[in-house]
Amino acid sequence: MTIDKVRRNMLKTSSAGIIATAFGTTTAQAQSQAMGAANLQINAFHVEHELKPLAFKSSLLDGLSARLIDSHWANNYGGSVRALNTVNKRLAEALAATDTPAFIYNDLKREHLMRTGSVILHEYYFDNLGGDGKAPASVRSLLAASFGDFNRWETEYRKIGAGLGGGAGWVVLAYNRHFQVLENYWMADHMHSPADSVPLLVMDMYEHSYQMDYGSATARYIDAFFSNINWDEVMLRIEALARTAK
Ligand SMILES: [Fe+2]
Repeated sequence: MTIDKVRRNMLKTSSAGIIATAFGTTTAQAQSQAMGAANLQINAFHVEHELKPLAFKSSLLDGLSARLIDSHWANNYGGSVRALNTVNKRLAEALAATDTPAFIYNDLKREHLMRTGSVILHEYYFDNLGGDGKAPASVRSLLAASFGDFNRWETEYRKIGAGLGGGAGWVVLAYNRHFQVLENYWMADHMHSPADSVPLLVMDMYEHSYQMDYGSATARYIDAFFSNINWDEVMLRIEALARTAK
């Protein structure tokens, strides 16, 4: 399926069911096929996560310093990777100890949920940086079909980010497989995201993402983020999503 075919199909359909409809299949089929490709043999307690290297040279970003990006990657993202590995080991030990109170076990499970979200969202975030910020026509058409026009999508995405300024959270453009719709999501932390949604473009709004370069000037960070979006990566995510619908 070519991008042009994707775009032609997007233009013919409404926002509801846009991905699945574009590929002539149902969400249930997509989910079934995605499950078939899943690796269900990994021991959940023995997963050892490794830091995913940046796909770009941090010194080459426009308006986001290497010092900021490198610190964010090594300390905030890296800290969550290391913490998640520790939590997995502690969970295995706590489960083996029959006298572990359930409420103590759930303290670890809460940390497990939080660190899992942090690792995944940071990997999406860094992977969708390193581009020139110029959305190709195929993406513009897709978002225009879903949001009315591309600028309306961007206006909402930026507004959600601005609202999170000075605090913490994420802005996520995602495909909600259950509702079959593309939506921008406000997420106040790593733990609360819509079920059955696939992230396509992720923006970190925790202060550590911009404070070093911009202080509390959130709008300037959002401008810098948009200047560095790697839309090719976003398209790859859309194509991967579309493949599961074949
Ligand atoms: Fe972060």
